[in-house]
Amino acid sequence: MAGAGAVVSKSIGLEPNIGNSNPVIVGTDCGVINSMGLPNPGINEFIDELKSLNLDNFPLFVSIFGYTENEFEILAKKLSKIPMVKAIELNISCPHSVISQIGQDPEITRKVVEAVRESTDLPLFVKLTPNVTDITKIAKAAELGGADAIIAINTVRAIAIDIETGMPILSNIYGGLSGPAIKPIAIRAVYDIFKTVNIPIIGVGGILKWQDVIEFFYAGASAVQIGTGIIREDLDIFRKISIGLIQYLNRKNILNIQDLIGKTHKLIRIKREKK
Ligand code: DHB
Repeated sequence: MAGAGAVVSKSIGLEPNIGNSNPVIVGTDCGVINSMGLPNPGINEFIDELKSLNLDNFPLFVSIFGYTENEFEILAKKLSKIPMVKAIELNISCPHSVISQIGQDPEITRKVVEAVRESTDLPLFVKLTPNVTDITKIAKAAELGGADAIIAINTVRAIAIDIETGMPILSNIYGGLSGPAIKPIAIRAVYDIFKTVNIPIIGVGGILKWQDVIEFFYAGASAVQIGTGIIREDLDIFRKISIGLIQYLNRKNILNIQDLIGKTHKLIRIKREKK
């Protein structure tokens, strides 16, 4: 209702999980670090809840996480039967969980994506971790496994320390940094992945305003996600950004958004050819 094109759920696993004990979130100068611990009601209760809503036309993407290929398969199969679910997002990238070991290894990424690909006809998006040496290798593996789109990036592994006690603030010590601090990292990741894969990229990381979204488009994103921005602003962020985007496109006489996606790559090529 606030103007977003779709909503992505918190990641859902097989079993109910209450998550980590407090504190699970801490603010920093330009972002937040969270370590919720993947809290969720478990797939069965989650599906019951979705069914009770009776909102078959709602544009819902469900994020799922598992510890094995088989767990991902079961989750995807169950969700495929629910009309409300329009796409599946694989979280193989939570920065403080063993599931990030999937998203840090191209071979394992490919196997997990392949397994889910065979279990569902729903669009399949794979969310990648920036906590790797070369994110393009993971993106390529996800594409080869049959992903329909790459989502870049998940949070950056981080720590905050209380200087009065000397102890880490989060109960889990490590958490994932999100917000404006990570935007340039996300732009770089999208820029590099665009050169590597032939599937669309959904950009995410530190978006607060329409200018950030334009920057993601130039780097190569076809769509964006906003999470921390909702905490920093409020749900009006979607409408404000949409208005800003339309005004920019009008001012620049851009009739087709497609002309903007990845345009920085084109501009760099043209500049190089002139030399
Ligand atoms: C959590 C999950 C994530 O995917 C992430 O990026 C950060 C935190 C969590 O539930 O703890």
